[in-house]
Amino acid sequence: MKFQAIKGVRDILPPESALWNRVEQAAREVFRTYGYGEIRLPIFEPTELFARSVGLDTDIVSKEMYAWEDHGYPELEALRGQIMLRQPSLDQPVAMGLFHAQLDDFLAKAKEGIQRGEIPRTPINSRVVTDLGAMVRHIFDPNTTQGLMNDLVPSLKDMIAKFEIGDRLALRPEATASVVRAYIEHGMQTRPGNVKLYYAGPMFRRERPQKGRYRQFYQIGAELLGPSDHAALDAEVIEMLLAFFARVNLRGATLYINSIGDKSCRAAYVERLRGELQKVREALGADSQRRIETNPLRVLDSKLPEEQPIIETLPRIADHLCDACREHYAQLKRQLALRNIAYEENWRLVRGLDYYMRTTFEITAPGLGSQNAVCGGGRYDGLVELLGGPATTKGIGFAIGTDRLMLSLQEAGATDRCGLEVFVAWFGAATYPAAVTLARKLRERNLSVELPAQEMKFGKSLSLADRLGARFAVILGEDEMAAGQFTVKRLADGDQKKLTEAELLEYLTNSRTA
Ligand code: HAM
Repeated sequence: MKFQAIKGVRDILPPESALWNRVEQAAREVFRTYGYGEIRLPIFEPTELFARSVGLDTDIVSKEMYAWEDHGYPELEALRGQIMLRQPSLDQPVAMGLFHAQLDDFLAKAKEGIQRGEIPRTPINSRVVTDLGAMVRHIFDPNTTQGLMNDLVPSLKDMIAKFEIGDRLALRPEATASVVRAYIEHGMQTRPGNVKLYYAGPMFRRERPQKGRYRQFYQIGAELLGPSDHAALDAEVIEMLLAFFARVNLRGATLYINSIGDKSCRAAYVERLRGELQKVREALGADSQRRIETNPLRVLDSKLPEEQPIIETLPRIADHLCDACREHYAQLKRQLALRNIAYEENWRLVRGLDYYMRTTFEITAPGLGSQNAVCGGGRYDGLVELLGGPATTKGIGFAIGTDRLMLSLQEAGATDRCGLEVFVAWFGAATYPAAVTLARKLRERNLSVELPAQEMKFGKSLSLADRLGARFAVILGEDEMAAGQFTVKRLADGDQKKLTEAELLEYLTNSRTA
């Protein structure tokens, strides 16, 4: 059997990983200068955290999460699966008997788990164990008719489906929810000034994989939490992001901004939008039709060519902002201008997560095809309160899609060598101890060194040094040993000299790659 990475996930190998490291390092350096510190977050969290913050009706939560129930009762879960599949019928006494036995078994195991404290004693679970017994007795009463059973079985299954065998957990599809959870959990509102945090790591979404879209992908993100919602903060967050892109030489990026209002003015706008969408319902595709009810704003995200002319005629949020939101948006534009930041306004930029309000922004970069957003972000006042924290804390942040940033940089020709600096070519068993010592001294001076474990022929040895991309080969043969010298060869041009150990260490240390 041959194992392969599963669909939508991939390995990042050297030398590409060196470029990743350089980019992540640049983020750390730039973010530090703006006062951000790193937060290291768990990879999994309660599913409910994402459902509440990102939103139940978003694609991310409703279709794309890797979620499971975490417990030590696999047999109970299997039993639940079997019960859910049964369609009991009075004229099949054997199947009825089995159904009954499985229900009894489920109930017994569920009670036992709760008693032992291994299955959570949630209100739903307590209700299920009390109600289930009565319901089972009812269904298997000798006087029960098929009709009554047909009525009762769906609610019985519904009850069993709601039973929580363990904690519902999910691989994180994004990290803003986790940052806010951590902020509340650690009472970070008592820290002086704004709380500024950044993170870098993998996120997980079950999306259809394509260029720039993966199921395990990476983000570098930053969040600012604090009592103020001043637009200068939004602008500074964007300034930091662009400073980072400049540091890694990303060219051709475009910043798009929008304001999606706050709870009150957005709600009124969404109703208006829904009304207009109802009028053109028949001309829309199935996804957009469904979104008229669930999330009309998401219709604006549609890329379907036939929907574009219709969308252009829809009401625009900018025309429906309340005074405070309109002023905040105007401030944002002034704050960007005073920082000389160029932007384009895009009234359709509503973003696919529910927690946003007012400022939303996205950055696109060249070389990415249809998945060209390298970064998305926005303001999320209200999320801290929604998750049980202080209502006074506001938030703004962004996340960069690291995979996409890499693709764009690589399309533009960025590479990074693994950076092998010295190949120590030794000849004759007697020279090996000196070669080992030399390699260690060079490594102590932070040079990257390759030392063959076994003696090689001269030609093969130098050819390997070349193929590994070493900058220098140090040649150590019996002649050199006798003379107390080393021969060092610069592989790019063949320049060669004989040096003592002290001279060699100095020469190689001074010619280190930056
Ligand atoms: P998001 O727009 O869902 O926002 O993701 C941010 C970025 O992650 C996207 O612009 C894209 O570059 C990258 N990304 C998303 N999904 C994938 C994927 N399947 N494959 C590759 N890259 C992907 C958020 O996640 C918010 N938490 C951002 C934020 C932080 N807002 C406020 N603070």
